Amino acid sequence: MTRQVPMRVGVVGCGSISDIYLRNAPFFPSFEIAAVADIRPDAAAAKAAQYGIGAMGVKEMMARDDIDAILNLTVPEAHAPIALEAIAAGKHVYLEKPLATSLADARAILDAAAEVGVRIGSAPDTVLGPGPSTARDLIVSGRIGRPLIGTSAMMNHGMESRHPSPDFFFKPGGGPVLDMGPYYIALMTALLGPVAAVEASGMIGFAERTITTPGAARQGATIKVEVFTTVQGMLYFDCGAQVSFSYSWDIWKHSLPPLELHGTEASLRIPDPNFFAGKIEIGVGRDPWEEIDTSALPYGEPNYPYPGMAGFPDDVKPLFANYRGLGLADLATSIAMVRPHRASGEVAFHVLEVLTAIMEAATHGRRINIMSKLGIPIPSSATPTGGA
Ligand SMILES: NC(=O)c1ccc[n+]([C@@H]2O[C@H](COP(=O)([O-])OP(=O)(O)OC[C@H]3O[C@@H](n4cnc5c(N)ncnc54)[C@H](O)[C@@H]3O)[C@@H](O)[C@H]2O)c1
Repeated sequence: MTRQVPMRVGVVGCGSISDIYLRNAPFFPSFEIAAVADIRPDAAAAKAAQYGIGAMGVKEMMARDDIDAILNLTVPEAHAPIALEAIAAGKHVYLEKPLATSLADARAILDAAAEVGVRIGSAPDTVLGPGPSTARDLIVSGRIGRPLIGTSAMMNHGMESRHPSPDFFFKPGGGPVLDMGPYYIALMTALLGPVAAVEASGMIGFAERTITTPGAARQGATIKVEVFTTVQGMLYFDCGAQVSFSYSWDIWKHSLPPLELHGTEASLRIPDPNFFAGKIEIGVGRDPWEEIDTSALPYGEPNYPYPGMAGFPDDVKPLFANYRGLGLADLATSIAMVRPHRASGEVAFHVLEVLTAIMEAATHGRRINIMSKLGIPIPSSATPTGGA
């Protein structure tokens, strides 16, 4: 409930993704990591030793008055229980995506937070990076005219060869839609406003996956696939735009761009939604494509360091900079400045409703209307709508 900066943050979940948050934390002036915790004390102890911070049990962390917020980096099934525990302890919560594995759990998180008066933030925060921000500026200022149609693709062969414990990716709550979809849907809603309805079809391309990740504890074991690993369909936006999508972990190679949007005046090629920056291309009418490199533009608050500026670690390539923590930093700054934060629970709820509707549409073969709306401007015409 702090209005102090830096906000003191306890990390719950010391797995793969915790490294990038712990490495990036010192770059953000608005929060600091107070301690780490995990259901596996050895995992917490290892990260604590690596990053020179304290480790403690989850219960102890929740009871600490000097910890203002919980950064919930647990597996998706634990997102809601840990978030609810933190909210009950009066702490703000920032979660990795997805917000929860069901809409009911996501609603319970938002309602509990509203009752207690704490804030909920959620990944993805890639939307706050200069790539998505520049694309959004181009759209809301009318450069592409009225958005008409688009295409979106995220296709590869999945996580069994890349993640040390990949089982959860192939179980309910996983799959390419719920795992990678948040980046794509969050970005598209930031660019086009809320989704009104979805249609989809799905398949399980391979009934089993063999874990081949080097060093994985279960290397060589098979995972029974229980979730669609390919889902294709259509997103209908409130603003009238229609975007087709193909999200798959059954594909070895492809040549499709991650996201293209076409308006009445121009077309936009948008950088991979999994990254904070990248090269945008705009093609106005019959003119040739024009490139805009966003990788050296400032990230978030003007005083934050960013990849490309003097002093930022050399190992961070600006184009593919992994700046995770930006959403949490914005949450902390926004609390202190008494303003809304951007990677919000409201956005994450809408994104989750769209993702779960896609899965339902694929399962039952019907069009699903989306009930939640977003309080962000919709670029429904060439008239600038402004705001963020
Ligand atoms: N790995 C990635 O590349 C990646 C990228 C972006 C987002 N994410 C998201 O981050 C989250 C974590 O992913 P990960 O890859 O780090 O998973 P992981 O399995 O490597 O780590 C999760 C950690 O959470 C701990 N945990 C599980 N249940 C817990 C509980 N009830 N209380 C305390 N600790 C608990 C586990 O012991 C484990 O250490 C997921 O929501 C995932 O979608 C992961």
